[in-house]
Amino acid sequence: MSEPVVVETVEAMRAWSRMAMKAGRSVGFVPTMGALHAGHTSLMERARKENDAVVVSIYVNPTQFGIGEDFAKYPRSLDADRKLCGEAGVECIFAPKNLYETGACSFIEVGGLQEHLCGISRPGHFRGVATVVAKLFNIVEADRAYFGMKDAQQLVIIQTMVRDLNMSVTIVPCEIVREPDGLAMSSRNRYLSVTERKLALVVPRALDCFRAAIKNGERDAMKIVGEMANILAERDEVEIDYCAIVDAHTLEDVTKIKGDVLAAVAVKIGKTRLIDNARFEGL
Ligand code: PAF
Repeated sequence: MSEPVVVETVEAMRAWSRMAMKAGRSVGFVPTMGALHAGHTSLMERARKENDAVVVSIYVNPTQFGIGEDFAKYPRSLDADRKLCGEAGVECIFAPKNLYETGACSFIEVGGLQEHLCGISRPGHFRGVATVVAKLFNIVEADRAYFGMKDAQQLVIIQTMVRDLNMSVTIVPCEIVREPDGLAMSSRNRYLSVTERKLALVVPRALDCFRAAIKNGERDAMKIVGEMANILAERDEVEIDYCAIVDAHTLEDVTKIKGDVLAAVAVKIGKTRLIDNARFEGL
């Protein structure tokens, strides 16, 4: 597999994309903040299958981190990321150095969707995400963009932004990739100590409880949330940010399991914040 080209300016990225377009090649885009893992690899591989060329952006976006969050210590591993991208058949890495060079006074807010779940404890986070993703879409001009379903709220916000602003990119949601013991892959997992890594398994256990309850015919969302929260609360070291069952499209809390719902969990273990979810597509 050949080494991907690393492009560091907005202008060079545009030129690369325009060349691909001119040659009639479709482009698949995987936006990331780097510290790539098997979850990202699955997005790149899917993009590789469905497009002529794949672009991965690696940019730790300052505008989506709040005060006191982990922007400064967010893992940065460009050499390892480049290797992984090469192995996955990525042709171009966009690692911009001048994305916010001119300052910025334009932002994207996606209505009520950003007021739920992570938006409550991370005010401003989704404005930062939506804005940077819109900027990246405008620069890369890809045909398709690939997002993991672990960040379920991010995904629905981006899908809504693309629909509302008539962007031409097609959003491709991709399944959550898990470790063999069920923990969802995340760049932040590398913050966890050995003890914390074991504690983190309460999260997939809580989601298993949701799946089992649904399978057994339980439709009382509050009852299931209570059972999930009991699992998360088994250990004092696990701080629950939220544990909720919401409508998968509006992200509003539901009382009954009906239609497409999402069991969504966010916890803090030590200094590490983890999120995960399970989906039920009903009638
Ligand atoms: O999911 C992420 O890694 C980031 O939120 C994204 C979409 C790359 C925007 O910075």
